[in-house]
Amino acid sequence: MILKDKVAIVTGASSGIGRACAVALGSAGAIVVAASRRISEGEETIQLVKEASGDGIFIQTDVSKEADVQRLVEKTVAYYGRLDFACNNAGIEQVPTPLSEQTEAVFDEVINTNVKGVWLCMKHQIPQMIENGGAIVNIASAAGLIGCPTIPIYCASKHAVIGLTKSLAVEYASRRIRINAVCPGVIETDLVKRAREVNPQFIEHLNKMHPIGRVGTPEEVANSVVWLLSDQSSFITGHALAVDGGVVAQ
Ligand SMILES: NC(=O)c1ccc[n+]([C@@H]2O[C@H](COP(=O)([O-])OP(=O)(O)OC[C@H]3O[C@@H](n4cnc5c(N)ncnc54)[C@H](O)[C@@H]3O)[C@@H](O)[C@H]2O)c1
Repeated sequence: MILKDKVAIVTGASSGIGRACAVALGSAGAIVVAASRRISEGEETIQLVKEASGDGIFIQTDVSKEADVQRLVEKTVAYYGRLDFACNNAGIEQVPTPLSEQTEAVFDEVINTNVKGVWLCMKHQIPQMIENGGAIVNIASAAGLIGCPTIPIYCASKHAVIGLTKSLAVEYASRRIRINAVCPGVIETDLVKRAREVNPQFIEHLNKMHPIGRVGTPEEVANSVVWLLSDQSSFITGHALAVDGGVVAQ
């Protein structure tokens, strides 16, 4: 119970990595505020948190809208009296396509969710952490550390998440707020299932991409998030941690 009674927001908590983070934080003792757009899946996440002997609430939130993010943080503090941690995980992928087929609408959607969403979250979370200190983990991607042909917008969005992480980590280090990013390799979630539907052989290619020989699990990412939020990583800030089976080490 290394996070006992700490209050943690997890965005994009209705599935995949976000849901696994919510459950892992709950079982480490945190009170979890699960935020995402889908109500029934978000409530289901809180049920799983409770089954893992944690507690929490769901608050419907679109991270690309400032009014929603502001309400999420205000409601969290009104309900639990504090905010200690955040895992800013909500994000969307870019369907791989040649550059000529990439549209302005896709650019705006990916950047608004993946970059503006993380920036808005930290803009409203950090002021609530000034008094007691806190920790934030932003979910970037291995794509934030290397170039990725056919998905340049997603790749740029995750590089930007790391830029936001490092900048605010330096700015708020003296206020006892640590901010890090986790950079997953390919993780077996709905995002990967959707890719597999498009091309069933794709998973073999994905496994081979990882020196470890397989894609990762949401729980493997969640373990790193719990560690980076906990005092066990008390001297780590502004770091982008690859949790990727060796992809970026190649
Ligand atoms: N799965 C992977 O292989 C992988 C690899 C590297 C990084 N990531 C990153 O991990 C994060 C989670 O992805 P996942 O694989 O669990 O996919 P997922 O699609 O299962 O989860 C994404 C979550 O974000 C939510 N979301 C999307 N847009 C939102 C918005 N505007 N407001 C609120 N919630 C929103 C979705 O509803 C969903 O709950 C993303 O940031 C993704 O880029 C995933």
